[in-house]
Amino acid sequence: MTASIVIDNIGELTTHDPELGAGIGSRMRDAAVVVEGERIAWVGASAAAPAADTRVDAAGRALLPGWVDSHTHLVFAGDRTAEFEARMAGEAYAAGGINVTVEATRAASDAELEANLTRLVAEARRGGTTTLETKTGYGLTTPDEVRAAHIAGRHADAVTFLGAHVVPAGSDPDAYLDLVTGPMLDEIAPFVSAVDVFCEEGAFDGEATARVLAAARAHGLSTRVHGNQLGHGPGVQLAVESGALSVDHVGFLDDADIAALAGSWRGEARGTVATVLPACDLSTRMPLAPARQLLGAGAVVAIASNANPGTSYTSSMAFCVATAVLQMGLSVEEAVHAATRGGAIALGMAEDGWYDPRGVAHPRIGVISPGARADLHLLDAPSVTHLAYRPGMPLTAAVWRAGGRVV
Ligand code: NIG
Repeated sequence: MTASIVIDNIGELTTHDPELGAGIGSRMRDAAVVVEGERIAWVGASAAAPAADTRVDAAGRALLPGWVDSHTHLVFAGDRTAEFEARMAGEAYAAGGINVTVEATRAASDAELEANLTRLVAEARRGGTTTLETKTGYGLTTPDEVRAAHIAGRHADAVTFLGAHVVPAGSDPDAYLDLVTGPMLDEIAPFVSAVDVFCEEGAFDGEATARVLAAARAHGLSTRVHGNQLGHGPGVQLAVESGALSVDHVGFLDDADIAALAGSWRGEARGTVATVLPACDLSTRMPLAPARQLLGAGAVVAIASNANPGTSYTSSMAFCVATAVLQMGLSVEEAVHAATRGGAIALGMAEDGWYDPRGVAHPRIGVISPGARADLHLLDAPSVTHLAYRPGMPLTAAVWRAGGRVV
């Protein structure tokens, strides 16, 4: 028999389900949630909550969906503190630092890489993250990339192939592009659900990016783009034209980019999510992505941590949400939506029946509504507003993932 849990006496419940309350956050007061197995079975007024095997008294605190972190790079070894210090002393971030991590990652054993990944995933869970995408991209040889995909597949909810991160030191750019779009992709394709490409000066130009995206589509894989991170470039337009699930960073956008991202949601097909990475913008001392303008134009926005050793060594989604509110002009509801349901849309997990890397199908995530996966984040605060009102405070009180208590 499936075990059930009732969480009642919830002071404020953020559902993202328009049927349960108006507005983007759809906040309910004095609510309860019933979980059966891995799914949410019931949502309603606390006073009307049915009994369950286990009762959790939320004591008036806020409950929201677990964070959906749709952009991380967690299969790596080594340390880049010195590069960070140099940046804080005024040096600009350049894509070349990636090769420092590539060297350390290649030299690490499987066990070392897996131990580091496990530690970082546990850290993210403690902060309320229940779904996590991670990328390859620090191997950049076929065996090293496939190894990263296998290790990531044992711990992440989605694995993305980022062989097109940079041209590895000592490689010929044309030959490497042939490898990444040919034999390397052929070998790794069964173990990943999407392909990503870093479209930027110092990494891959527009022509190379278009080739990577076309090769991915030919394998039936979804696509994402690292675009417009360090300056204006063709990444956003290429992502939208090719039907990418998301384009991430989006720091340097012109009006045509914003219009393209917003317009991508107006047709029959789903559009391209604009994923902003506030912690990365701060750590690289880049302008913050124009999330307010994107939302105003009608684009779908996600917030992710971009946890990686170079540009954003944090998986704190609460920090990203606080930054989005305090410095990017989003309302708390908009930021929380972007860090939960927005991430789910970016990963193609907002509908029932998505598959994890182990081949297991799951219900939709990013919402608290009957039938959705029970990914729940209880705050030690009466309202999600405290995420921005009390930035930097450890507000995570409890976390359930697929109905199981993980924190
Ligand atoms: O998303 N932009 C490219 N990739 C990572 C940085 C990786 C690194 O510097 O190690 C990012 O910021």
